[in-house]
Amino acid sequence: MKDLLRLKTSLTEEIERVLNEQIKMEAEASAMYLSMSSWCDRNGYDYSAGYFKKQSDEEREHMLRLFKFVSDMGGRAISPSISASQIEYETFKSVFEQALQQEIAVTQSFNRIADKCMKAKDYVTFTFLQWFLKEQIEEEYVARRAVELFEVIGEEGTGLYEIDKRIPKISYEDTYED
Ligand code: FEO
Repeated sequence: MKDLLRLKTSLTEEIERVLNEQIKMEAEASAMYLSMSSWCDRNGYDYSAGYFKKQSDEEREHMLRLFKFVSDMGGRAISPSISASQIEYETFKSVFEQALQQEIAVTQSFNRIADKCMKAKDYVTFTFLQWFLKEQIEEEYVARRAVELFEVIGEEGTGLYEIDKRIPKISYEDTYED
């Protein structure tokens, strides 16, 4: 029976499983960013609150992109349950440090999935993953630049206010201009 069910999809059980794990990871990232948005809003960092809300929306889009792929391939896409998000953060800077750690973890996760696809000779999923692997360059870049702003501008005086204003202006594409 199990083998008959697998005939409906070219995804191996393992690839389907890791894709569903990634769906969950993206959903948790979406929830985490929304939580960060709330913390920034409560602490007077309006620009960053808007930035994290946008990030949260993007993570949901990532989740849905993966979800659709698993479904389109005849697999079983699982709507994830997610645990309660962190509510409080130590400092404004620690929010961005945690966001960067999250993005690095996502990149590593996609690398592991890509590796499994190669080993399983699943080039369809491997090709599908290229969008995410490329997207992670931007995701990590923006998160890293945000953390660096704390060093570049400094936290003294109106520093945190200036950092907050600069957060939504960080742009990966802009680095190609000139
Ligand atoms: Fe979906 Fe920020 O990685």
